[in-house]
Amino acid sequence: MSKDSIALIGFMATGKSSIGKALKDRLGRDYKFIETDQIIIEIAGKSIPRIFAEDGEARFRDYEVEACKKAARLSKSIISCGGGVVLNETNVETLKQTCHIVLLTATPEVIYSRTMSEGKENRPIINKKDPFKEIEKVLRYRESYYNSSAEFIIDTTEKSIERIVEEILMQTKLC
Ligand code: S3P
Repeated sequence: MSKDSIALIGFMATGKSSIGKALKDRLGRDYKFIETDQIIIEIAGKSIPRIFAEDGEARFRDYEVEACKKAARLSKSIISCGGGVVLNETNVETLKQTCHIVLLTATPEVIYSRTMSEGKENRPIINKKDPFKEIEKVLRYRESYYNSSAEFIIDTTEKSIERIVEEILMQTKLC
């Protein structure tokens, strides 16, 4: 069966949502754009920082499994996945069944500057005393998870959204 959906994975602030929306626009009206984080917010009925603070990360990861299953069931979809989706093999297996999995990467410096401009409070994983150190540490730990989950890897550094979209379409042969 040919896959007609794309799951974008990668660390926070690597452009999954903005690139995902641009991909959806490029692919046309048949396609939908969804975010696993948004599905989680709807299931839990509260924001991500509140889930982490009130229920803990483990509960958040359970919601994430549910969200991946829900997202993967939809055809013709561009799924922007939360940065920690790859930590659970079940999620990767679920997404692989219906999606091309594309990894977006960026340098720790770019990630730091983007996340700081959006406010670290929105991102519990790096909401620590030294967010830059935390970004480097978590990236190092997750690197092998990201690389082994991906069908294609796209470095987003110094590339326009349009160019990234074209690269993804060429690699996945969706257009
Ligand atoms: C997380 C990334 C976030 C969100 C949650 C946990 C992570 O999504 O799912 O805060 O573990 O890296 P983004 O990658 O969209 O920021």
